[in-house]
Amino acid sequence: MKSVTQTLGFLAALQGVLVAGSPCNSPSPHWKTLSPIALYPRQEHTTLALNRTTLAILGGIVPNGLPTQFNTTSLLQLYSIPTNKWHPAPLAPMPVALNHPNAAAVDGKIYLLGGLDDRGDGIWRGTGRSWVYDPTTNTWAELPGIPDVPRGSAAMGVDERTGVVYLAGGMTQLPLIEGAGEQESVDVVSAFDTRKGEWVAALPAGVKAMPGRRDHAGAVVVDRVMYVLGGRDRGQHNVRGDVFALDLGRLGKGWVTKAGKMPTPRGGVCAGAVAGKVYVFGGEGNPVEGSDGVFDQVEAYDIRKDTWERLDKMELPRHGTSAVAVGRGVYIPGGGIKLGGAPVDTFNVFYP
Ligand SMILES: *[C@@H]1O[C@H](CO)[C@@H](O)[C@H](O)[C@H]1NC(C)=O
Ligand SMILES: *[C@@H]1O[C@H](CO)[C@@H](O)[C@H](O)[C@H]1NC(C)=O
Repeated sequence: MKSVTQTLGFLAALQGVLVAGSPCNSPSPHWKTLSPIALYPRQEHTTLALNRTTLAILGGIVPNGLPTQFNTTSLLQLYSIPTNKWHPAPLAPMPVALNHPNAAAVDGKIYLLGGLDDRGDGIWRGTGRSWVYDPTTNTWAELPGIPDVPRGSAAMGVDERTGVVYLAGGMTQLPLIEGAGEQESVDVVSAFDTRKGEWVAALPAGVKAMPGRRDHAGAVVVDRVMYVLGGRDRGQHNVRGDVFALDLGRLGKGWVTKAGKMPTPRGGVCAGAVAGKVYVFGGEGNPVEGSDGVFDQVEAYDIRKDTWERLDKMELPRHGTSAVAVGRGVYIPGGGIKLGGAPVDTFNVFYP
């Protein structure tokens, strides 16, 4: 018995040394693999943090059993960071199945503000129908629909001071078949006031349109400034590398295009901010042979310096995912590993 106690004491001491010596002053960025997404591989979904322990993924596409075909899903799933487990109970699905949903978490609730739906005719089209999900009652309640341009894949930002959610850009349609038209990107900005339960009627002129049309961009809010990074303008290969910024506390200043450009312009990216830097991962439309059309880059934008740096490539390069930063990690569930639909259930977290 004594020796066991001694051994445990020794292990505890050793663990103390290891803990003290590793994560806190960990020298280089690293990845950690988490529990795969429960039920299905997933792509073109949205990832949110309801609080510092619970993440949510909703909507997107899942395999439907036929090669290269996918179903748009209404699934909502929760994940617990401390237990590394997907919530087993069935949650109320979104009232409609949407891919590229525009969603944001405010005060522990999920605001779903339109997205793209599948009407079975080979074109995903924007819908403006909107709902709020309350996890305490597991119910969805309908909200007024988007008043201007119904769309999906908007860059989303939340002003935590006012509870207003900003939707920047997005796309009104994504044709899946030849000859069905262009992917239509927009520069429109809309805002939903979660405290009043209504859309903001009049945004200042300099806010109502971004400096360019964008969908599939990265978006974060840091110190009450919203950043829209990269993205594309009408099509997978028309990638962009700009950073647009909007000071949510001083809307009168309008959108600003930053001098710092992404080293590798990319769309279909995901992004998360940790300690003053925005990390932008992966993307779609890579013309390089052998890339499967997917970007593997991880690049970091230093907000204060307005500069970029290149980091090591993504552990599993992918696009069509979305990320959320919580604490020191950027959580990235699912995504596609080839141009177009190729969803995986892989879930990992990046620690810068
Ligand atoms: C995919 O959608 C089709 C058409 O709505 C449906 O018949 C089929 O059951 C779905 N498959 C899966 C795996 O959800
Ligand atoms: C986080 O949100 C989930 C879902 O609403 C809830 O079950 C959990 O208790 C919350 N945790 C904290 C620490 O607030």
